Amino acid sequence: MRAIEFGAFGPPEVLQVVAVTTPEARPGTILLRVRASGVNPADYKWRSGWVNAAVPDMPVSLPQIPGYDVAGTVEAVGPGVTGIAPGDRMVAMLDHVEKGGYAEFAVVPAEHAVPIPESMDFATAAALPCAGLTGVQLIEEFIQPKAGQTILVTGAVGAVGRFAVFAALGIGVRVVAAVRGAQRAEAKALGASDTIILGDEDWPGPPFDHVADTVGGAAVAKLCRHVKPGGLIRTVATTPIDPDGLPSEPIFVAVHNDPARLLELARSVAAGKLPVPIARRLPLQQAAEAHRLIEAGGVGGKLILEP
Ligand SMILES: NC(=O)c1ccc[n+]([C@@H]2O[C@H](COP(=O)([O-])OP(=O)(O)OC[C@H]3O[C@@H](n4cnc5c(N)ncnc54)[C@H](OP(=O)(O)O)[C@@H]3O)[C@@H](O)[C@H]2O)c1
Repeated sequence: MRAIEFGAFGPPEVLQVVAVTTPEARPGTILLRVRASGVNPADYKWRSGWVNAAVPDMPVSLPQIPGYDVAGTVEAVGPGVTGIAPGDRMVAMLDHVEKGGYAEFAVVPAEHAVPIPESMDFATAAALPCAGLTGVQLIEEFIQPKAGQTILVTGAVGAVGRFAVFAALGIGVRVVAAVRGAQRAEAKALGASDTIILGDEDWPGPPFDHVADTVGGAAVAKLCRHVKPGGLIRTVATTPIDPDGLPSEPIFVAVHNDPARLLELARSVAAGKLPVPIARRLPLQQAAEAHRLIEAGGVGGKLILEP
């Protein structure tokens, strides 16, 4: 099969189109014919060597096929798999160390794959797992706000941020969105009560109960001064928030696989409860271009690779 691989850490150009042996469905797994693969910021952080340097206990074996998010049709089911048949449309998040999504086929643990709603295309499905689970878990698991509370969500219209906003609103939490100036209207349309231009504006209102951060850095640290004593500051961003002078310590949290939540999310998106914009769909062989785009920022939606 064709896949995108990097054999050394470096710039986007290290991503090469290669021909590798098509994997086989092992016991408890399915072989997915990938129709769409989602591109996440983490993909370029692994490729560049940043993750390897920052998290030395996370082993990276090279060469590596990047990509967490895959949507496609089941090509074969491994021994012991029940309830899934060839031809089924499924979406999944792959193991965060093993990965393998930038390819024509991917092996997925059957327990992590969920059916794609009938009305949803593969690109939208592939946009959901990593970003969607991160945003929802950030709110529902790592912060657990109560109805009526107020949360600051930074990067609120981004791939992760919009799911955090959605999850918060679902609990009856009021959202203040910290975004770029040009993203204000979009944040309001997602349901934010107020918006702040991150880095340009301070918060003039009452203190936040909690902060859900997807951006990190000094501008976020400044807004975190407005958290109530005892409020939680939880971040998924790899740019740290300096804890100096803050009412509570910012704590980094990481996404984990959660097929039940992924299925629920897919159904919500299919029902039109939350827009998930696709910025660009690129052929698989343009993975390096996708990485250039996502590293530059300002993409305005998910980047999807199509084998
Ligand atoms: N911990 C985990 O498990 C986990 C899981 C998934 C993602 N992440 C991390 O979470 C972060 C967000 O991921 P994502 O997929 O949501 O990325 P994304 O789609 O690019 O969203 C980021 C959003 O934040 C905005 N933003 C970035 N810098 C900003 C600034 N200085 N001021 C105002 N707005 C700013 C971006 O606007 P522009 O597009 O205009 O720049 C965009 O709207 C990344 O660092 C990613 O690696 C962590």
